[in-house]
Amino acid sequence: MDQSVFERYAAHRWGRGMLGLCDNGDLGLIDPARPEAPPRSLPHLLDNLHARGIDTPLILRVGAFLRRSLDNLNGAFARAIDAAGYQGVYRGVFPIKVNQQAGVVDRIIEHGRQWCFGLEAGSKPELILALSRNLPEGALLICNGIKDAEYVRLGILARKAGIDCVLVIESPGELDTVIAEARKLKEKPLLGVRIKLTRRVSGNWADSSGDRSTFGLTTKEVVDMLATLRAHDMLDCLRLQHSHLGSQVPQIMDIRQAVDEACRFFTELRRLGAPLDYLDLGGGLGIDYTGEARATDNSMNYTLDEYCTNIVETVGYAMDEAGQPHPTLVTESGRAIVAHSSILISDILEASYFDRSEPVAPEADDHHMLADMAAITGYLTPRRVQECLNDAEYYREELRALFRRGVIDIEQVARAEQIFLYVVGRIKEVVAQAGTVPPEVQDELNEHRDIYRVNFSLFQSLPDVWAIDQVLPIAPLQRLDEPPTRRAVLSDITCDSDGKIAQFVLDDGIDNALPVHELRPAERYYIGVFLVGAYQETLGDLHNLFGDTNVVTVDFNAEGELELQHEVEGDTVAEVLAAVEYEPRQCLDAFKGIVERAVRTGRINPRQRRILMNTYREAMGGYTYYEHLREEEAHG
Ligand SMILES: Cc1ncc(COP(=O)(O)O)c(C=O)c1O
Repeated sequence: MDQSVFERYAAHRWGRGMLGLCDNGDLGLIDPARPEAPPRSLPHLLDNLHARGIDTPLILRVGAFLRRSLDNLNGAFARAIDAAGYQGVYRGVFPIKVNQQAGVVDRIIEHGRQWCFGLEAGSKPELILALSRNLPEGALLICNGIKDAEYVRLGILARKAGIDCVLVIESPGELDTVIAEARKLKEKPLLGVRIKLTRRVSGNWADSSGDRSTFGLTTKEVVDMLATLRAHDMLDCLRLQHSHLGSQVPQIMDIRQAVDEACRFFTELRRLGAPLDYLDLGGGLGIDYTGEARATDNSMNYTLDEYCTNIVETVGYAMDEAGQPHPTLVTESGRAIVAHSSILISDILEASYFDRSEPVAPEADDHHMLADMAAITGYLTPRRVQECLNDAEYYREELRALFRRGVIDIEQVARAEQIFLYVVGRIKEVVAQAGTVPPEVQDELNEHRDIYRVNFSLFQSLPDVWAIDQVLPIAPLQRLDEPPTRRAVLSDITCDSDGKIAQFVLDDGIDNALPVHELRPAERYYIGVFLVGAYQETLGDLHNLFGDTNVVTVDFNAEGELELQHEVEGDTVAEVLAAVEYEPRQCLDAFKGIVERAVRTGRINPRQRRILMNTYREAMGGYTYYEHLREEEAHG
């Protein structure tokens, strides 16, 4: 099977063995338990879902991929601990904020039970959620974030109830609250302290690190905290030290040096009498979104094994040097656990092609510049592409100016646009055949990339692409046995010009156009956005009132087939209206009043009123996204 189109999207690199090419050219999922088995086709799965009435856009969660990430993380720490002769154990926690959905959190707890995997709460609501989840005995519940008295009280009493709730002190004021509540309840809490490392990291989250980071205590505050705890006979409560470098750390050197610094704090705090036994190194383990294995914002220059080995060895050496016992290692990896397990899938609704393959002839009495523009293809050679592009753009501008001044009519402008698109099409062809193109020509041609409109909202489903220029791997899900002949940017269905994607991971780097196939009439063309399990669902918003998409959880069954496990229907229009303070019932009644008035004044007849009200009512209860006509509707 020719893998070249599959590899064009670098799917063999960022897909980490999860994706493969099916015999019919479909993109398929590989069962981690049977890596040699043929991949299971995604378009085939989508057809099955469609037949059940579950349509795109949807988030596909793959249970096996979530379990695999947990296995990988815990397995890599276990191997590193073993290899280094480290005396402590690893106890990971999952930061709820990275993906708070019950279908994700509960699966992590369930599968993580074997390693006493715990949770990290970054707020009171997250703590309330975590307390209800029946964590395994011995698992940690790390409480970060700003804490009021109620948050602290919950943490102290939950510990009494047998849950290992660690209240991490993030500011001096929080310490006062903790001491006051502990006194009132006459209970001793499990405490942690968040230290501010001086080490700054590179990457998108550089600001979370270093002296100026907003969270954690300064060295002076930490020393004062110890004195205060001692004065209140609570120093024995301080069991954990926490630090967090920032998310998606691209450089392994940054991680190693930060761990080294954290160890210095740790051994010093122990020397001052704090009975610390947990060293929590926060999140930051990266995802190689581009598959390039480089220290860039969307990639990383280390492997999971390297990450774990670096941590284990650095902590081991530091403790041995200080003559102290090896602590339990804790990390709060979020991204690394969930990113791979979710795929956003949608279909292309329409394409705007910025060229045409059929020539258009000017008419006899057209302005001569139409014929001049059409003549460009006569002198188009690889050496003259820049000149041809300049000429085409010149004539187009001039003809537009003539139209504005009333010299030529609308039909001539329409013909001129078609001639221009034909010339651009030929220039693209010559450039593609020539292989290399001067950057200025490529920049100009980029202005003429196709636009493929995808049925989704960037703001709801991929907010980081909009907010922080996150690059996520994207690929068509079918026809990968056929060379893609078009280059497109993807535009969403919000009426916002920011709602587009113009950075794509390809085998030779990041490109500003995605190679795609020409659409075929009456045939769905699906696009998958991969590695979207972290932060995207959580941060999405209701821009243009596009709500949550459908979410479907699948898993491989005993025969290795993909099986539907769970479905959460996306928001209805009524639900998003309610979320922005409109009462759907009241909207319906108000609209009914308006329509009734129109009947009274004879603008519409009663039958039209019935159709209008039925359509309104049905749309109110329906999906917020573009809905394809169902088979029953299509056939009347
Ligand atoms: C305190 C804390 N822990 C853990 C994480 C998760 O980080 P990541 O998803 O990079 O593993 C974050 C996110 O930035 C965080 O703020």
